Amino acid sequence: MASPAAPVLPSHVKTVLVTGAGGFVGQRLLSSLLSLYPSITVVATDMRPPPIPSRLSVSVKAEERVVSLAADLGDPISIATLFEGRKVDLVFALHGIMSGGSEADFELGYRVNVDSHLALLKYTTKHHKDERQGAPLPIYIYISGLAVYGGPACEPKADVNGDDTPLYPETSYGVAKAITELYVYDYTRKNYVDGRIMRLPTVAIRAGAPSSAASSFISGLIREPLQGKRSECPVANGLDDPNLDEIPVYLSRVKTIIHNILFSSTVPAASFPAHSRCVNIPGVSTTTRGILDALVEVGGPDALKLVDFKKDEKVLAIMAHWPGSFRNEAALALGFHRDDVVTGFADAVRDFKAELEEAK
Ligand SMILES: NC(=O)c1ccc[n+]([C@@H]2O[C@H](COP(=O)([O-])OP(=O)(O)OC[C@H]3O[C@@H](n4cnc5c(N)ncnc54)[C@H](O)[C@@H]3O)[C@@H](O)[C@H]2O)c1
Repeated sequence: MASPAAPVLPSHVKTVLVTGAGGFVGQRLLSSLLSLYPSITVVATDMRPPPIPSRLSVSVKAEERVVSLAADLGDPISIATLFEGRKVDLVFALHGIMSGGSEADFELGYRVNVDSHLALLKYTTKHHKDERQGAPLPIYIYISGLAVYGGPACEPKADVNGDDTPLYPETSYGVAKAITELYVYDYTRKNYVDGRIMRLPTVAIRAGAPSSAASSFISGLIREPLQGKRSECPVANGLDDPNLDEIPVYLSRVKTIIHNILFSSTVPAASFPAHSRCVNIPGVSTTTRGILDALVEVGGPDALKLVDFKKDEKVLAIMAHWPGSFRNEAALALGFHRDDVVTGFADAVRDFKAELEEAK
């Protein structure tokens, strides 16, 4: 499937703030912003100054167009420093504590996933009033996740229609995402910001260290064996286990996620339904067997020998509430892109292998 054309950012967008820019998705987003839009300035922030990507597909020097700042956004005072001396037109709010971390430290989860996001929204509103009179509202992209769903409608055989399904999050992380979605919606309703809420499926393949999420094994089954390391499959005790075929996972290729996050800032405000700014970013379904097949297809049969099979009942209990798929019609009608439903996961694996080779 051909890659979609790069989204054209609204012409007034000159300065973009990315929070969580040192994280997995943040680093990819930063790279794309710098490669695709040579005339914008990016303020990139995280707990530590985010690394500035060195491999860009443009000749303009990245260092001249990025301000890399350390800020703990759980401390409201540090938020002001991100806006000092500039007019921010577009915010990508990505920072957060993931599901395992939020369960392990309830207070920290709320401080970051709720309080700091409300503080950022408040400051973006103040910044617009004080510094951007007459300019279009700041576009505010809040990155949420499908963890806002749960309850009886969510099980492996379900094909969830996001608009008709109540939000019954099953984790503190999911509850915090749902709360912050409502804040972003209300700030938009009040005309304080032009908010858009993107619920991401699992993003594959996650580079770097494994995350604390239960879904971490999905990327781990590829990432580690492709680097000659062992990986554990918590879904099954062996290759003949029916779990490998029966429990679906729903995900999207990193490239597609980044395209869709950028695209979210280009959708005309009037195209969203009156009552919602939420978009379930399209993903595709596969199974653990599909993941292992892609590993063999891209890494060869020896890569599979690096997978140890050991059922983890805790992971299986969490997976029992993962819908096998989500309806994509609303997002596709707005112009969001979806991976190829047949080759999507293998494409993600090929992307990851290419990245490993590039980094050598
Ligand atoms: N990766 C996925 O599969 C996935 C799926 C659904 C939703 N999401 C959402 O996408 C966003 C990015 O995910 P990711 O995979 O890049 O996560 P990540 O953990 O790699 O990055 C999150 C970043 O937030 C930063 N952060 C945490 N607390 C902070 C604080 N107090 N102040 C400033 N920065 C802080 C962390 O240092 C980290 O770099 C998150 O909001 C996540 O919930 C991700």
